[in-house]
Amino acid sequence: MINQKYAPLLEPFEFQNGISLKNRVVMAPMTNYSSNEDGTVSDAEVAYYVRRSKGVSMVITACTYVTPNGQGFPGEFAGHTDEMIPSLRRLATAIKSEGAKAILQIFHAGRQVPKDIAPNGDVVSASDVPSEGEGKPVPRALTETEVESIIRDFGETTRRAIEAGYDGVEIHGANTYLIQQFFSPHSNRRTDRFGGSLEKRMTFPLAVVDEVQRVVKEHAKEPFIIGYRFSPEEPETPGITMADTMVLIDRLANKNLDYLHVSLMDFWSTPKRGVEDSRSRIEIIQDAVGDRVAVIGVGSIYSAEDARKALTSGIPLIGLGRELLIDPEWVQKIEQGREDEIVTELDINKQEELEMPTPLWQRILKNPGWVPGV
Ligand SMILES: Cc1cc2nc3c(=O)[nH]c(=O)nc-3n(C[C@H](O)[C@H](O)[C@H](O)COP(=O)(O)O)c2cc1C
Repeated sequence: MINQKYAPLLEPFEFQNGISLKNRVVMAPMTNYSSNEDGTVSDAEVAYYVRRSKGVSMVITACTYVTPNGQGFPGEFAGHTDEMIPSLRRLATAIKSEGAKAILQIFHAGRQVPKDIAPNGDVVSASDVPSEGEGKPVPRALTETEVESIIRDFGETTRRAIEAGYDGVEIHGANTYLIQQFFSPHSNRRTDRFGGSLEKRMTFPLAVVDEVQRVVKEHAKEPFIIGYRFSPEEPETPGITMADTMVLIDRLANKNLDYLHVSLMDFWSTPKRGVEDSRSRIEIIQDAVGDRVAVIGVGSIYSAEDARKALTSGIPLIGLGRELLIDPEWVQKIEQGREDEIVTELDINKQEELEMPTPLWQRILKNPGWVPGV
């Protein structure tokens, strides 16, 4: 029997579009580097997702690229052609068959595309400014026509997600990738309608939202979830500040989206610059959007107690990333009142039992400190 203290985590939730979730816990998007050479979803990936789709109410997949020059990782599954629909469908079906809603995360990596996987080595971004750090490639600034084409590509991948049976898409506007690169004054130095002022830096992100919504209206026969993920601040100068983000989220909150997903490594982190407010970023954001749109918070939530506390911030939904790699039965243990048995450090002898694809497993082992226990 469930411990009543944790009952709020298991309450159902309804999005504005009428789709309901069976509880408040969603799987955060995690790249696994394990797709087949041809961009199709592999058996290992399907097994990994099946293992993690029983307890949570919604699974946000690893990101998929909307155009070949947007692929950010080796072994990332593809979403850029209609030929990929059966592969996308296989993943959606696997997730839904275990009882979770399936959300496809759609993305373009922009200047973060590794040079060796960029088609003809052509790394593109808003402007020709490299990321900070040693040996980062200088990207080529996209032409206006190319930018418009990428906006349509986000729509096309959304159409494929609908045809493949997903319950929704998440627009990946976070973690330094192309959509964020257009919003950021570090990577966007354009002087056309896609850059210059804060207002103009929002043109691309908001156009992607409009296009995805247009496609959903045209193609979806049932309610379809649209979420938007963003990173609230950048460390660089110039870079996105909390003040910039407050303007963006106000616009997004008026767009009839189903959720905003705040990408953070620490759920309770506080703003670095841009606002005079000692509260956590997540509380400031929730306060600003109110009940216009649901907010998902994420970041270093491991124990049942961490999750219970996170909900006291006022947000309706929490995301678990690394913790679901470590313990795929996290939600079931809470359901059964066995929260004391939740494992919060990766057991490096259990790759097989945890259904972890080898390329993901190896990356984790090679990067100590990334996942607790390693
Ligand atoms: C292995 C791994 C892969 C990730 N891949 C993605 C991704 O494809 N898209 C994304 O938006 N975030 C990605 N993230 C970030 C997570 O969604 C999440 O925001 C972050 O890990 C913090 O949550 P956590 O503390 O619960 O892990 C990834 C994180 C990990 C650990």
